[in-house]
Amino acid sequence: MELNLAQDPDDLAYRLLSSLVVPRPIAWITSMNEEGVVNVAPFSFFNLMGDDPPIVALGIGPTETSPDGLKDTARNIRRGGEFVIHVVTEPDLETMNLTSADFPSGESEAAAAGITLVPSTAVKVPRMADAMAAMECRLEQVVEIGNTHVTLGRVLHLHLDDRFYDAEKHYVHAERMRILGRMHGRGWYARTTDLRELPRASYAAWRAERDGAQETAP
Ligand SMILES: Cc1cc2nc3c(=O)[nH]c(=O)nc-3n(C[C@H](O)[C@H](O)[C@H](O)COP(=O)(O)O)c2cc1C
Repeated sequence: MELNLAQDPDDLAYRLLSSLVVPRPIAWITSMNEEGVVNVAPFSFFNLMGDDPPIVALGIGPTETSPDGLKDTARNIRRGGEFVIHVVTEPDLETMNLTSADFPSGESEAAAAGITLVPSTAVKVPRMADAMAAMECRLEQVVEIGNTHVTLGRVLHLHLDDRFYDAEKHYVHAERMRILGRMHGRGWYARTTDLRELPRASYAAWRAERDGAQETAP
């Protein structure tokens, strides 16, 4: 099968590519408008882009349900320049899903979904009290490509549930957190508990193994 995505309708690109770029991490985002209404929504066009400084990227698409065509998250981040990303774990799934509904702009998903908010440390946007991890972010740049707002943020402050942190080794027990990933289609998710470990490859080790294999070859 060959598909020319430069000519195919956008929806096809979404359906095919979002089924192939999986599992995707989910940024569960709080943002705030000028009246102080806190918006909550999940975004799986999301990843960590660098660590020095720590940079995250989000892809926020358009909506037909607001007059300016912007999702509340995109508008709030553009105007306020701040947001908080929370990890989504297995017990959060249904609550997270509810916050993806197209609530009107002035109506907070946090209240509707029973999410407890607490003040953040480095930004004015509150964070979810019960999240296993929360990353307070400041907007660096929005790159508009077609109808997507590629939103780059710098992580200023991290909150992490003590149960998952090894303070001696500065290590996160991610394998115990039961973080969810997003899969193909609009309603499929993956657990992150089916793991295998493989130490990082090195060229020197590979060459030594190859040369050793050649020496012993008959
Ligand atoms: C798991 C999940 C991931 C999503 N990822 C994205 C995404 O990456 N980009 C996007 O524009 N919308 C995404 N959505 C849809 C938004 O969450 C949805 O449009 C939401 O209503 C936006 O809310 P807002 O207008 O309050 O910002 C996702 C929905 C779900 C359930």
